[in-house]
Amino acid sequence: MTQNTTTAGSPAIALRDATKRFPTKDGGTFTAIRDVTLDIAAGEFVAVVGPTGCGKSTTLSLVSGLEPASRGTVRVHDAPVTGIPDGVGYMFQADAVLPWKNVLDNVALGPRYRGMPKRDAEAKARDWIERVGLTGFEDRYPHQLSGGMRKRVAMAQTLITEPSLLLLDEPFGALDVQTRELMQDELLELWSGTGAAVVFVTHDLTEAISLADRVVVMTAGPATIKDVVDIDLPRPRRVEEIRLTPEFIEIYKRVWDSLREEVEITRARGASRVA
Ligand SMILES: Nc1ncnc2c1ncn2[C@@H]1O[C@H](COP(=O)(O)OP(=O)(O)O)[C@@H](O)[C@H]1O
Ligand SMILES: [Mg+2]
Repeated sequence: MTQNTTTAGSPAIALRDATKRFPTKDGGTFTAIRDVTLDIAAGEFVAVVGPTGCGKSTTLSLVSGLEPASRGTVRVHDAPVTGIPDGVGYMFQADAVLPWKNVLDNVALGPRYRGMPKRDAEAKARDWIERVGLTGFEDRYPHQLSGGMRKRVAMAQTLITEPSLLLLDEPFGALDVQTRELMQDELLELWSGTGAAVVFVTHDLTEAISLADRVVVMTAGPATIKDVVDIDLPRPRRVEEIRLTPEFIEIYKRVWDSLREEVEITRARGASRVA
């Protein structure tokens, strides 16, 4: 079980003026994100939206310790991030399901890796397999599953470790629309009550508003925070219903106005590059 060491009042994630520069081939530097300051509380679901290539994934790699900040500070559970912090769970667009292991072994991987005896890990895995609706498929291999089912395996694989911090980078980006909505609902249900802080990166504004407590809008690269919007929609939510409500549409229009400018800047840059 992950120990959540967050003391009352201290955020799960705290970015202060976080800046990331990468060296370029010609010996210069390229700034991917600049002066990002953001607090995320335990149990809070934050979605980060911004145009493609603006620096969303880079922001996540600072939180996950995959990349050090060039300037500023990144703290998780009140400690500076120096490597992968305890209690982090990830999910990316490309899942990390191992093709040579069946569903049961894939889901049991995290607890086994942490030293849990095989029997206990398998019992726990069966419980998670049930929660994601895959009972009966324990012996299947990933190539025998649909995209949505693989995503369920990935979700069980991530959540079985009971992360206090969930970092999701366009996790449903490769799914068809109906499967994506199903997975979004599933994620909200599995997350609710866990107390995990979530950072959900997406370029899809509908997805961001449907899921999150707050939506962070980033600028065209280098990514800085342009807007932070509270999403005061009631929970529990069903994504395909909530997006039809007048309240949702109102929020969508407001945030899209902000995001659109950044998307247009990004498009104009792309156009000038190929011109
Ligand atoms: N390791 C790296 N080295 C050099 N440039 C990088 C590296 N990672 C990301 N970038 C650049 O930083 C910018 C932001 O990338 P990224 O964070 O992946 O964007 P997003 O996730 O918003 O689509 C892009 O221009 C990308 O090419
Ligand atoms: Mg990305």
